[in-house]
Amino acid sequence: MIDAMTMISSTVDLVLKNAKVFTFHGIITGGVAVDNGKIVKLSKEPEIFRADEVIDAKGFLLLPGLIDSHVHMRDLQLSYKEDFYTGSCAAAAGGITTVIDMPNTAPRTSSFKALREKKAEARNKIVVNVAFYAGFPSRLTEVKQLAKEGIVGFKMYPHDPSEEVDFENEEQVRLYFEAVAENNLPVSIHPDDLETIKKLQSELQQQKLSDIEIFLGSHPPTSERKAIVKYAELGIKAGCRLHFCHVSSMESLAAIKEEQSKGAKITCEATPHHLLLTEEEIKKHETFSKVLPPLRSQNDNTALWAGILDGTINILVSDHAPHSFSEKQKPFLEAPSGFPGLETMLPTMLTKVAYGDLRLEKLVELTSSSPAKIFKLENKGMLIEGYDADMVLVDVKEKWKIDPEKFYSKSKFSPFKDWKVVGKVRKTFIKGLCIISDGKIVVPKGVGSIINISH
Ligand code: DOR
Ligand code: ZN
Ligand code: ZN
Repeated sequence: MIDAMTMISSTVDLVLKNAKVFTFHGIITGGVAVDNGKIVKLSKEPEIFRADEVIDAKGFLLLPGLIDSHVHMRDLQLSYKEDFYTGSCAAAAGGITTVIDMPNTAPRTSSFKALREKKAEARNKIVVNVAFYAGFPSRLTEVKQLAKEGIVGFKMYPHDPSEEVDFENEEQVRLYFEAVAENNLPVSIHPDDLETIKKLQSELQQQKLSDIEIFLGSHPPTSERKAIVKYAELGIKAGCRLHFCHVSSMESLAAIKEEQSKGAKITCEATPHHLLLTEEEIKKHETFSKVLPPLRSQNDNTALWAGILDGTINILVSDHAPHSFSEKQKPFLEAPSGFPGLETMLPTMLTKVAYGDLRLEKLVELTSSSPAKIFKLENKGMLIEGYDADMVLVDVKEKWKIDPEKFYSKSKFSPFKDWKVVGKVRKTFIKGLCIISDGKIVVPKGVGSIINISH
């Protein structure tokens, strides 16, 4: 980006040297020079630049900052669960430089007004980059208006009867899909089927079953699969790009492959908890491991890992879903689903890398380059000259134990509690600015940026 003459005469904002820098062409022992938020040089000797700040990163690995495209930042009326400050600090602690926020908030982000209100709340609180999903608006015409406001796409929860749109009405869903496709956006779907859930719930409640059995039995892989097939078919008719969230079962992956072979434009994501935990965990942590879709079987874990390797699963997401401790202490069927994940995704996955179960290139693809492409986050997701200097510096050798009490998230619990992991975040940078160093946030609120996507 910069020639030899300019190199010597100019001063850049930051030089980070002596690191092991991840590139898709191999790891380079060297570093980066950063100016005006961009990587201006990636080389063995970035120190040939004069810099306002020099960081010696000896022994550490520099990765592109993670992009977590499935995060519930909450805030507004749900700020008791999480707010944009605590959520973005949790992201920083987890090496995540960009999060995409989900719209199932109060108020729901399904109108132009609600989106504006959410952005205004986020602006002065965030310490990482934040992009937004919207929910389907009650008026079809508002789809375009929301698209123009820079959202990454629309998110739908077909199992949630409080959504503005009736997702059982296929003709209506098709119209929405067409409108979204016209605006060149994807629709992300939580695949579960309301009709199946309701039927199973009433059947199972007649039987002598535990609450856990009723919960697991009423959200089976077949319900997930049914939703995937139904909306994939509608997606084909409408020519709309679909993204299936947190696929959790063997059957879902098979359905996705089949629909893709019929021409459906589908991408999908998986979570660390569905890859690493099984329903056995629910007996141990009860409501603290209650999540939708539920944790499933060992066979499903195995199928998901195969889906990662064969490329069916495109991205990894945390599905960070914070709730208050008292909500999680309710009886099993009343307690809300979900738990925090921003601070456990990278360490649990780096541990798989350390044990040789996952290639580092694959991890970076799943957590940085691939989400950047799918959601059109320009100049992000890779360490390349000219790209934003969103980076995370990790000690891949450090062994430590996950302690939810130390989370920045307001939700101080996790099914990964006490897990021994290998790989710790040392520093996270957004546009070359160090936001967290050895676990301490070192910037004021509001240094993060709101990302608006242009289509
Ligand atoms: O467990 C979950 N919690 N799954 C979801 O899809 C929603 C999320 C939440 O918002 O709490
Ligand atoms: Zn979901
Ligand atoms: Zn979610």
